[in-house]
Amino acid sequence: MDAFPSSYFVTFSLLILINAPTSLCTNDERYKSCGKAFMCGTLKPMKYPFWGKDRPNYCGKLGYKLDCVNNSIPVIEIKSLNYRVLDVSYQDKTIMLTRLDYWGEICPSRLVNTTIDFISFNYTAGTRNLTLGYGCHLPSSQAPTFEHSCTINKTNTNVVYPSSIPCNESVIVPVFENNARDLDQNRTDLVTALDKGFALQWYVEGEECKNCIKSEGSCGIDPSSRFICYCRDGPSIDECHKHQDTITE
Ligand SMILES: *[C@@H]1O[C@H](CO)[C@@H](O)[C@H](O)[C@H]1NC(C)=O
Ligand SMILES: *[C@@H]1O[C@H](CO)[C@@H](O)[C@H](O)[C@H]1NC(C)=O
Ligand SMILES: *[C@@H]1O[C@H](CO)[C@@H](O)[C@H](O)[C@H]1NC(C)=O
Ligand SMILES: *[C@@H]1O[C@H](CO)[C@@H](O)[C@H](O)[C@H]1NC(C)=O
Ligand SMILES: *[C@@H]1O[C@H](CO)[C@@H](O)[C@H](O)[C@H]1NC(C)=O
Ligand SMILES: *[C@@H]1O[C@H](CO)[C@@H](O)[C@H](O)[C@H]1NC(C)=O
Ligand SMILES: *[C@@H]1O[C@H](CO)[C@@H](O)[C@H](O)[C@H]1NC(C)=O
Repeated sequence: MDAFPSSYFVTFSLLILINAPTSLCTNDERYKSCGKAFMCGTLKPMKYPFWGKDRPNYCGKLGYKLDCVNNSIPVIEIKSLNYRVLDVSYQDKTIMLTRLDYWGEICPSRLVNTTIDFISFNYTAGTRNLTLGYGCHLPSSQAPTFEHSCTINKTNTNVVYPSSIPCNESVIVPVFENNARDLDQNRTDLVTALDKGFALQWYVEGEECKNCIKSEGSCGIDPSSRFICYCRDGPSIDECHKHQDTITE
């Protein structure tokens, strides 16, 4: 007499158990956090290997932290210098960026060479280093293409490009080759060429993140900084696997 109710109960419990992993664990915090993009200003959504703001540090790799300065300017710090991120291409694995201290500006308060972190990035083909001269001895026999007066630390000096004449200091700033050519041919000005920035390619594991996203996971790193795929029901070393009950036909 109570055989039917108990077998119903067993079947019912089994159904709950089977469905539990999908319904309860879709709230995996890391899966959800790393599924969010870094959004800032007009920059395209930024995902793995980048992190910052709504994306905790386990959603990206060391060296790829972004900040959203003043809630509108995407900034990345590379070797103690801040850069404004202008654009991103996931296809080419490149970011376009420009030095924040040279944004609309050629007389920064501190003269620092551009030095990138070659562990995380590399220059792309089509980059040219511009050397800007500061405190140059003018007038000189060879007139520079560009010359501007600067006030740095309350001291009057000048900035010159190209720095083919003797200068007290020089600063190396990379720009896109085509903008450097325009500059040399007097078709653009120095500030514009600098503001258009340059590109850096980033390094990531081959296909791991692609496969993870394809399996509906979110890319991230594990506590030992190795790639991990965060799935609805927990992390996986490569990609998310469908549940047993959905695979069986
Ligand atoms: C952010 O805002 C502050 C205050 O308005 C300003 O001084 C600073 O230059 C801004 N930062 C950038 C990167 O524009
Ligand atoms: C300006 O002063 C700061 C602080 O004293 C110093 O770090 C910086 O190197 C100076 N800049 C130049 C161009 O001398
Ligand atoms: C930048 O690098 C050049 C070439 O290595 C060097 O001559 C110059 O002094 C450096 N400038 C600064 C500000 O460190
Ligand atoms: C870095 O870029 C340079 C110039 O584009 C290239 O020759 C070099 O092979 C690149 N290095 C790596 C590790 O990809
Ligand atoms: C620009 O200079 C940096 C060092 O300051 C160097 O690593 C890089 O290869 C140079 N790039 C080009 C295109 O010459
Ligand atoms: C170059 O540096 C020297 C010594 O610090 C200074 O006297 C001179 O005014 C500087 N030249 C320029 C053009 O700023
Ligand atoms: C570039 O243009 C400026 C003014 O627009 C001019 O004074 C200068 O002589 C030109 N330089 C060259 C190399 O054509």
